[in-house]
Amino acid sequence: MKALIALLPGDGIGPEVTAQAARVLAEVARLHGHDFELREALVGGVAIDRTGVPLPAETIALCRDADAVLLGAVGGPRGGPTEPVRPEQGLLALRRTLGVFANLRPAAMHPRLMGASPLKPAVLRGVDVLVVRELTGGIYFGEKRREPDWAEDLCAYSADEIARVVRVAATLAKSRKGRLTSVDKANVLETSRLWREVATRVVHEDFPGVQLDHQLVDSCALRLLQKPSEYDVIVTENLFGDILSDLTAVLGGSIGMLPSASLGEEGGPGLYEPVHGSAPDIAGTGIANPYGAIGSVALLLRHSLHLEAEAAAVEAAIAAALESGALTVDVSDRDDRACKTAEIGDAVVHALSLHKETR
Ligand code: IPM
Ligand code: MG
Repeated sequence: MKALIALLPGDGIGPEVTAQAARVLAEVARLHGHDFELREALVGGVAIDRTGVPLPAETIALCRDADAVLLGAVGGPRGGPTEPVRPEQGLLALRRTLGVFANLRPAAMHPRLMGASPLKPAVLRGVDVLVVRELTGGIYFGEKRREPDWAEDLCAYSADEIARVVRVAATLAKSRKGRLTSVDKANVLETSRLWREVATRVVHEDFPGVQLDHQLVDSCALRLLQKPSEYDVIVTENLFGDILSDLTAVLGGSIGMLPSASLGEEGGPGLYEPVHGSAPDIAGTGIANPYGAIGSVALLLRHSLHLEAEAAAVEAAIAAALESGALTVDVSDRDDRACKTAEIGDAVVHALSLHKETR
């Protein structure tokens, strides 16, 4: 298969982790006879530095042409959240421009990483949860107003925006354990009451086999730490999904482990990125965890290129690398044995070629 992949390394540790993800893609291409062309473009702080804007027109044009977009991280050490032009605006504009409304953030506990989570092994056993976060609506994109002593961010959702993301989540639930938890704040928010109504209708009409329940976001946060293995698929709005998916990172051992896929209408390019940020404090030290970026490659192969066997091979290689003890400092129980970023890439590439040979 021939495919064009836009590579947007971004800021901080972004270039270090995407370099390993790109090696894995190249190895998949070599082993399975594909022709993947990776073309780089600017986003975030590095784009502001070189062009003055966080999402240059050339980047948008490349992403629109591409079959998929692989992104590292955005966010810089300079300025703070109050700067008028910020790296994060590049990422938000890219999500909106590509129309990638469904953000999949899976978190599973690999037995080798039990010790890396502050939670007890008994709580973590069997954890395999997928957060589906609405990504192009809600308070992130509503009208914003500011006066010196007053500010407003509007949260709005249409029934269609809710229905399409619930459909994606219910379809995924059907292929997993068949359980879908819709998370809202319907005891307070009008948008949440609409969310609940629409989720109930969509699942009732189109997904009779899926077991749907509703939870309030505060009690879901509590449940996720008390009994995380009860969850299968969670679907929720943009801001709640942002917060809950950082919480599920604790279930996977480290936020560095978590991959993500952001999907729009069939046919458009998907956007793949690790859930972690740019971590400017460790950028350039070679210790960043690239598993989230490499896991995002597996999701890219599955959801944008429809190469299920290759996606599964990358996931198996990640598991084998973890098994072999290839762990960065954030998940290692022995700091003196922790691997560098590139050594994780070596371990995954090695496991991939072994996997291919033994098939
Ligand atoms: C995420 C990040 C982004 C978000 C930031 C960088 C804008 O926290 O992808 O979870 O809030 O969506
Ligand atoms: Mg976040």
